[in-house]
Amino acid sequence: MTQLSVIGCGYLGAVHAACMADLGHEVVGVDVDPDKVAQLAAGKAPFHEPGFDDLLQRAIASGRLRFTTDIAEVHGSQVHFICVGTPQQAGRNAADLTYVHAAVEALLPHLAVHADGPVVVVGKSTVPVGTAAEIAARIDADAPGSGASLVWNPEFLREGFAIQDTVAPDRIVYGLGPGDRGQAARVVLDTVYASQLERHTPLITTDYATAELVKVAANSFLATKISFINAMAELCEATGADVTQLAEAIGHDERIGPKFLRAGVGFGGGCLPKDIRAFMARAGELGVDQALTFLREVDAINLRRRTHVVELARTACGGDLSGARVTVLGAAFKPHSDDVRDSPALEVASTIAGAGAHVTITDPAALENVRRVRPDLNLAADPLEAADRADVVVLLTEWEEYVTLDPEQLGTVVAHRQVIDGRNALDPVRWRAAGWTYTGLGRP
Ligand code: UGA
Repeated sequence: MTQLSVIGCGYLGAVHAACMADLGHEVVGVDVDPDKVAQLAAGKAPFHEPGFDDLLQRAIASGRLRFTTDIAEVHGSQVHFICVGTPQQAGRNAADLTYVHAAVEALLPHLAVHADGPVVVVGKSTVPVGTAAEIAARIDADAPGSGASLVWNPEFLREGFAIQDTVAPDRIVYGLGPGDRGQAARVVLDTVYASQLERHTPLITTDYATAELVKVAANSFLATKISFINAMAELCEATGADVTQLAEAIGHDERIGPKFLRAGVGFGGGCLPKDIRAFMARAGELGVDQALTFLREVDAINLRRRTHVVELARTACGGDLSGARVTVLGAAFKPHSDDVRDSPALEVASTIAGAGAHVTITDPAALENVRRVRPDLNLAADPLEAADRADVVVLLTEWEEYVTLDPEQLGTVVAHRQVIDGRNALDPVRWRAAGWTYTGLGRP
């Protein structure tokens, strides 16, 4: 058992804190937001994540997990995880590091020698390459007496699978400082991740810069894979070919693989879009912007898919969206999440509404978040209510409950049986058999 602190209790931090406590460590989670802390302390997740409420309650009941707004309570912890957000700066591609620097600043006065061994600060936030070296220098300069060292340990968890990805990750990366101190920090972190390492999880130990780059490289690759298949969808649309069959066929090549080849309205969320932009911005600062020019295209292809869906909806409504009734199934950036940050679904819905349509949006988990950011949109609790007298139904988040909808039953409430499948998740044969005009993305 190690005493840990987790600074920043958003998606990453809250899940990390609860999983670590569940694995037997003693954990204090710190966040500046008193509402979030109160909710977490009461055993209630401030976001939708399958299984998280149960895990949180179990961890709190064990007595090994608590939450606070008081950073001084990190006192007594041997390992301090930095899990704060690094959003995109307003009007710029670069990442906003305000929260990372504030967390380090707040932590420094509380770094003290620990009886159990070396004190380790562990960075998990996604940061521009070079940040870890800066933070390490800062710790050496401002908390020299603590002997604390920094490890950069990027996080690869996916929303919707956050617990599984934390407890049983597919790899662990340590970016270590030089010399004996780096090795000593590694030993400490090995005890924290003992259960993951016992499962023979691949462990890559490297330097700070490589560890930082691994994270953004992974997300850039995933974004590229999605934009690649969406570019193929554009080709399919121009030729009458079927991108879902194309993806299946190329996915059988082990070198390519079938995952992340689902063509549709594209990627969104709090990570992929902002991470590729921040990576481009950092490459520019480093004088190697040309190396990542392709990511500009990845971003452009992705955003073009959103525009394309709006145009399909316009065509379905006879070329004019004003006054049309449009139903949008899904608001979250992907299923099993209530996250609407940079959600393709929400952006498409907003654009269609902006063109004068009467848009009703439904989602099993994200409506509260939609209400907060877009109070002007009409919300409905379920698809049948949302589809009332619709001219066109647009599926934008492939929740199971939408994929399995009965087209016959939905057909009884709409004005026109027209569906746009923005995730290529519906069965065209079934929908067409029920009298619907079905339009997929990159499908004939
Ligand atoms: C992503 C990465 O997958 C995680 O490994 C990483 O840790 C995380 O970002 C992060 O940086 O914190 P996440 O944002 O939860 O995780 O979502 P993904 O599952 O990657 O999906 C991203 C978007 O791509 C979604 O909008 C999804 O609908 C879309 N997508 C995914 C497609 O359009 N097609 C696909 O084939 C797959």
